[in-house]
Amino acid sequence: MNNSADFTPKDDDVFGRIANRYDILCDLFSLGIHRFWKRRVACIIGNAPWQNLLDVASGTGDIVYRILQQRQFSSATDNLHHIIVSDISVQMLDKAKEKMTNYSANTSFMPLDAENMIQIESASQDVVSISLGLKICDRHKALQEAYRVLKAEGRLVVLEASNIPINWIHKLYLGYMSVVMPLIGWLATGGDSSAYQYLLKGVKDFPSAEALAQEMKDIGFGEVNFERLSFGIVAIHMARKL
Ligand SMILES: C[S@@+](CC[C@H](N)C(=O)[O-])C[C@H]1O[C@@H](n2cnc3c(N)ncnc32)[C@H](O)[C@@H]1O
Repeated sequence: MNNSADFTPKDDDVFGRIANRYDILCDLFSLGIHRFWKRRVACIIGNAPWQNLLDVASGTGDIVYRILQQRQFSSATDNLHHIIVSDISVQMLDKAKEKMTNYSANTSFMPLDAENMIQIESASQDVVSISLGLKICDRHKALQEAYRVLKAEGRLVVLEASNIPINWIHKLYLGYMSVVMPLIGWLATGGDSSAYQYLLKGVKDFPSAEALAQEMKDIGFGEVNFERLSFGIVAIHMARKL
């Protein structure tokens, strides 16, 4: 299994339990910096040509919300774009729906397992995005599914934890996260820090940006490239189904 967090959603509904607090916890852990990462992802997707976008492991819908805020997609009369917001947790999806009530015209919300999206037709999507979700899925299966549902020439956009290229700074960062993540998670959830134990393990064991790029190539993606953000704490990988 290529699941760096060892998370099995069928056994433990941790994300459902923290759905109400997820947004505030993101701000706490990243000191608000996740907003900048997600804005960048939304900008990359917003500037690409597409009609059908599938966002996988959407959580409370931050990525799509930012895309919809861009003027060209915000009109209720926009029939050109169709967006699917999806997550394995229905509680997370409910929060996403709340956030996007003004944009529901061209957006659907679907409970989907990133590893097996049987409800999505093969070769039906122009863009598939997954933000901060790949580390808690079986990434090989999730990437294969993304490949399957993309049209030829379709694009994959992945925001995920990565490696700071200077090794000792990376180790220092992981040490800091090992203390802060479970502690804030425990305090903010009233003693249920399990989601943050999974996420921490996912961050620690996730492959380097170069290794993830190679995994994408091995699945069949082409034009694979990535940009590091915040010194490499995260990276955005972009690839095309050739
Ligand atoms: C760390 S959150 C990221 C949420 C959001 N994309 C963001 O950037 O804030 C991870 C999300 O992945 C979802 N998830 C976990 N395993 C999944 C799976 N197999 N399929 C789909 N979603 C999954 C969780 O329910 C959670 O909402």
